[in-house]
Amino acid sequence: MKIGVLGAGMMTEALAAGWVRAGHDVLIGGRTPGKATALAKRIGARAGTLREAAEFGDAVLVAVRREGLADTITATGGALAGKPVIDCGNAVDVTDFSQVTYQDGTSMAEEIARLAPGAHVVKAFNQAHASVWAMTPPAFDGRPLAVPFAGADEAKPAARTLISDLGAAPLDAGDLRQTRNLEAMAIVVIRLLSSGHDPRSVFAFTTSVPAPPPPADR
Ligand SMILES: NC(=O)c1ccc[n+]([C@@H]2O[C@H](COP(=O)([O-])OP(=O)(O)OC[C@H]3O[C@@H](n4cnc5c(N)ncnc54)[C@H](OP(=O)(O)O)[C@@H]3O)[C@@H](O)[C@H]2O)c1
Repeated sequence: MKIGVLGAGMMTEALAAGWVRAGHDVLIGGRTPGKATALAKRIGARAGTLREAAEFGDAVLVAVRREGLADTITATGGALAGKPVIDCGNAVDVTDFSQVTYQDGTSMAEEIARLAPGAHVVKAFNQAHASVWAMTPPAFDGRPLAVPFAGADEAKPAARTLISDLGAAPLDAGDLRQTRNLEAMAIVVIRLLSSGHDPRSVFAFTTSVPAPPPPADR
């Protein structure tokens, strides 16, 4: 697959390197050209502008800090329309790890969908640190890492492929509205980790939970 990446930071380095290893053709688009070029060279990808990355990808990863989101999407000049767009972001205020939301409590993924009309947005990869995505494969206690993703149905096949190609297990968590919950979940995890607690201890159950209603009723 041709993958365009917007952003040249830690998440891009970890995720895009895995996709290059899996045989995908990756073009990294950066706000700072030298950074994108150096990163691309390190992992065997190509580099270009944000717009070139958006135009190049059959699927496009958005891996930028929330402060740069609007400028980044604007710089793609409408090239995201009709494409699967995967948002790995967390709208977190790094001064206190509080959550930042957009209009009416919407998520970063919903903000991308608003800023890029016609793009098919899913959120994935936001629950784990970049060092986890750099693992080959990301597996714990002999089990592949489960990766919840949520968003537009049109983008889910690409999300599944990109998750599986890292050696992780895709887990469909619902429609675009569920991306708010995935972001909130990540903020809770970040806050637990930053205060010295183990978030894995939270996810243990003795009973199964009834299946949720179909997406239209959620
Ligand atoms: N790091 C993690 O472990 C992790 C885990 C899960 C989710 N995430 C989320 O993934 C996204 C990317 O994280 P990251 O760790 O890759 O970030 P990062 O290393 O700080 O890189 C951020 C990228 O955003 C770009 N950017 C554009 N406008 C910006 C602005 N106004 N201020 C700051 N940066 C701007 C930077 O551009 P330049 O190249 O010009 O600096 C850089 O390429 C974030 O939303 C983060 O919350 C991160």
